[in-house]
Amino acid sequence: MKKMIVAPNGCFDFTTDKIASDKSISHRCAIFSLLSDKPSIIENYLGAEDTLCTLNIVKLLGANVEHNGNRITITPPLDVKEPPVILDCGNSGTAIRLLMGYLSTCKGFFVLHGDQYLCSRPMRRVADPLRSIGALIDGRSDGNYAPLAIRGQSVKAFHYESKIASAQVKSALILAALQADGVSTFSEPELSRDHSERMLRGMGANIESNGLHVSIHPLKTPLKPLTITVPNDPSSGFFFAVAAAICPGSKIVLKNMLLNKTRIEAYKVLARMGARVEFIETQNVYESVGDIIIHAGELSGVCVDENISWLIDELPALSIAFACAKGKSSVKNAEELRVKESDRISSVVKNLRLCGINVEEFKDGYEVEGGTLTCATINSFGDHRIAMSFAIAGLISGMEIEDIECINTSFPNFLELLMQIGSVK
Ligand code: S3P
Repeated sequence: MKKMIVAPNGCFDFTTDKIASDKSISHRCAIFSLLSDKPSIIENYLGAEDTLCTLNIVKLLGANVEHNGNRITITPPLDVKEPPVILDCGNSGTAIRLLMGYLSTCKGFFVLHGDQYLCSRPMRRVADPLRSIGALIDGRSDGNYAPLAIRGQSVKAFHYESKIASAQVKSALILAALQADGVSTFSEPELSRDHSERMLRGMGANIESNGLHVSIHPLKTPLKPLTITVPNDPSSGFFFAVAAAICPGSKIVLKNMLLNKTRIEAYKVLARMGARVEFIETQNVYESVGDIIIHAGELSGVCVDENISWLIDELPALSIAFACAKGKSSVKNAEELRVKESDRISSVVKNLRLCGINVEEFKDGYEVEGGTLTCATINSFGDHRIAMSFAIAGLISGMEIEDIECINTSFPNFLELLMQIGSVK
């Protein structure tokens, strides 16, 4: 198991356009390209373990993938091929759940698998609604855990009210609805990230959304192919935003970032805490894209209890800003954190305590008392966002992080960028 040691290196003024490409959009590019009958052209696809697994699955399903510098061309098969091997989703909840929705209507037999962490994450949230419209899905614990076996079927149109705000659940059901026998509707309690609706609509699908409610018309013909440049990932950029916010006198400019409002809420929380944050839109194709500038500030405690799905992935990094702020900060209504790549409530609480910070744990969140971070040896629990969050804490107090291979699932050049602002061994 690899480890890294991070040490402070003073304040910095750093500009980068090298933040990893957006993971959510990259997975969708690969999977959605199968809905067209023409080649999709994707620039800046994320070359990380998770999204390369999805690309490999798309190939096993019969697509031809050509790489040309920073551009990939995905030529879909006429009909999805039944693969002779299992489909390995690696560590990715997005890949496995979206593929459950897509494959449940494709002719053939498919087995979706993943690493030890993915195999312990709940799949019933997608399997149950899909089974209720006729999909044949089985897996461990009555279809709740991978490996999952799917036999593609025709499915009925549905009206589903989801109890959780999850873009993975929404996207899986939208993909099934596109092949259903009539118009389907989906609603959720809070708007979750809406990349699927935007991209599929851009490809010509008849999908209407009105706030929390989406209606999906089945496809009559194949969709138009995608032509897209994937913007940089605001969830990956957020580690560096926190770095700038907590290191006095520092500034960072993150270029070509996705600025979708369901993805930049954590930056707004940093601003509420006292950092200076600016968003500058430079283009708008499928999604708003632009630069984010963050200046350090005197941080004070904050309570985060709404729009949780808009910052769920950023909460581990935000907890490092909480530890550096004056006063108490809390996270509430975030029980979803317990079923991410690790139980992130427990991983954050345990590791902050190791760094000498007072933290109280709740079922749906935690309360952090700002204080003085101290150097500790941190267990990443195999979770990329825990490893990267505590690496950023190392810019203040020094930190040793164990089991850092997981960073490659989403942000392979993280260490290279961190070295520009801190000392890393
Ligand atoms: C994602 C949705 C979120 C997020 C995950 C990526 C997506 O999960 O945490 O990292 O690409 O749709 P949920 O939809 O389960 O909340």
